[in-house]
Amino acid sequence: MTLPRRIKMVEVGPRDGLQNEPEAVSPEIRIALIDRLSATGLMAIEAGSFVSPKWVPQMADTATVLAGIARRPGVSYPVLVPNMRGFEAALAAGAEEIAVFGAASERFTRKNINCSIAESLARFVPVAEAAEKAGIRVRGYVSCVLGCPYEGEIAPAAVAEVAGRLFEMGCAEVSLGDTIGVGTPARTRAMVQGVAERVPVERLALHFHDTYGQALANVLACLELGVATVDSSVAGLGGCPYARGASGNLASEDLLYMLEGLGIETGVDLERLVAAGRFISEHLGRPPQSKVSLALAGRRESA
Ligand code: HMG
Ligand code: MG
Repeated sequence: MTLPRRIKMVEVGPRDGLQNEPEAVSPEIRIALIDRLSATGLMAIEAGSFVSPKWVPQMADTATVLAGIARRPGVSYPVLVPNMRGFEAALAAGAEEIAVFGAASERFTRKNINCSIAESLARFVPVAEAAEKAGIRVRGYVSCVLGCPYEGEIAPAAVAEVAGRLFEMGCAEVSLGDTIGVGTPARTRAMVQGVAERVPVERLALHFHDTYGQALANVLACLELGVATVDSSVAGLGGCPYARGASGNLASEDLLYMLEGLGIETGVDLERLVAAGRFISEHLGRPPQSKVSLALAGRRESA
């Protein structure tokens, strides 16, 4: 098995994780979490979303979060943007990287951003153009790459089409979201191989939710295809407000432990990452959903 020497970990907990909490987490705690995460060596930490506060109230105050974090040189803090209104707000808040988010399923797109796939892509084009002019990096998401809560199985060709369009409009990176975590390794590999016909594999990111406990196996199955970027969420925070049953993303601690075991560099410190996960878990009043974090806590107790 030929594996990449280095993987970029994109931390999505402060956005994908906290957008799903029943009670909104205060900007102060979100800032403290992001600053702890940037001290681990992570180079990309999703900081929030500029979406309608009626749709996702948990991400209101993202401008306050961006203003409050201690930005580390070289670290990017992308924010989600669904339209020009969100882009203008992100720009005004000093965002240096944004993410537009579409899906390979019509019904999910309607539930998530209230438009069709074609309309969503048409909305993203001016956002990508304005971002390019402003020197802002754009990441593109495709949701429901292996299944949709409303439509069931999704054809790899539908994923490749949306991913290809995002890449062609200027997305530097296209993140493939198994929003409800239904994928298994062989299907996941086949989907990534299909998408790689439209988007160079080194520009793809994996974004797997762990609903069925397959996320780590799916990542491993795709690493030897040449994927160089993997999204994960500290303490396994998260879900998706428009995808009932979706559990958290792959836990960052578990991803890092596996990558370290494979000898793949990330630049991230496991102990500090575990501490950041415990910080937010204590605040939320529940244990981390990371097996590695739980195992290390058990080892410390029995020492
Ligand atoms: P809409 O209701 O169709 O839009 O929402 P609208 O243009 O008719 O506007 C409705 C109201 O929202 C108006 O306010 C607008 O001004 C306001 P009102 O007049 O009623 O007071 N509005 C905004 N406010 C703030 N920021 C904006 C904005 N745009 C309009 N940017 C819209 C369309 C896209 C806005 C809405 O559907 C929305 O905000 N959706 C958010 C969905 C979301 O954040 N989902 C979670 C992220 S996706 C995800 O988690 C998946 C991912 O992790 C990958 C994976 O796992 O697969 C990325
Ligand atoms: Mg997600």
